[in-house]
Amino acid sequence: MTIYLLIAASYLLGSIPFGVLLTRAFGAGDLRQIGSGSIGATNVLRTGRKGLAAATVLLDGAKGAVAVLLARHFLPELGAEGAMIAGAAAVIGHCYPVWLKFRGGKGVATLLGLYIALAWPIALVFAAVWLAVVGVSRISSLGGMIGAVSAPAAALFFGYPVYAVGLAGLALIVLWRHRANIARLRAGTEPRIGGTKDAA
Ligand code: G3P
Repeated sequence: MTIYLLIAASYLLGSIPFGVLLTRAFGAGDLRQIGSGSIGATNVLRTGRKGLAAATVLLDGAKGAVAVLLARHFLPELGAEGAMIAGAAAVIGHCYPVWLKFRGGKGVATLLGLYIALAWPIALVFAAVWLAVVGVSRISSLGGMIGAVSAPAAALFFGYPVYAVGLAGLALIVLWRHRANIARLRAGTEPRIGGTKDAA
């Protein structure tokens, strides 16, 4: 396998829109016409199907983790750089999937899977930040954004400089993908988990 094939495979893997596929398969509607229109687990939750939302987190997360495993298995000589590049390709695939005219999700669950596979302490920091922020605010997007920004700092702290650089780049993409959420947060209209107000 070459690095180009690894990037293409990881991108295509990341592009699989599990949220859209699951909601369609189980008769929960077209996710892109629901709530925020995003293809991630938070929006799946807005269909009222908690099991489907949980499955979406797991499968979207697996995309980030499997990309890292592919890099380590087929191109071990690339080391941390190879794992980071493959994981980044998966997250980019989730955010900009070729199958959905490049209109995908916001990358948070795929990032979590990537953190777990790269170095579990980074995932632990992300999970703690996400739980704390969402526990207090009940706003998923806020937890995802602050968690994604915390991860590169955690990577640096735990001695993974290559991951810190890659994860900082991905955090910028995550923030960019959340620009509608940021506008709603500023306007005070971002929906809360379990709340009655839905995302526009
Ligand atoms: O993980 C996605 C979350 O951060 C935001 O999703 O649907 O509320 O825009 P959504």
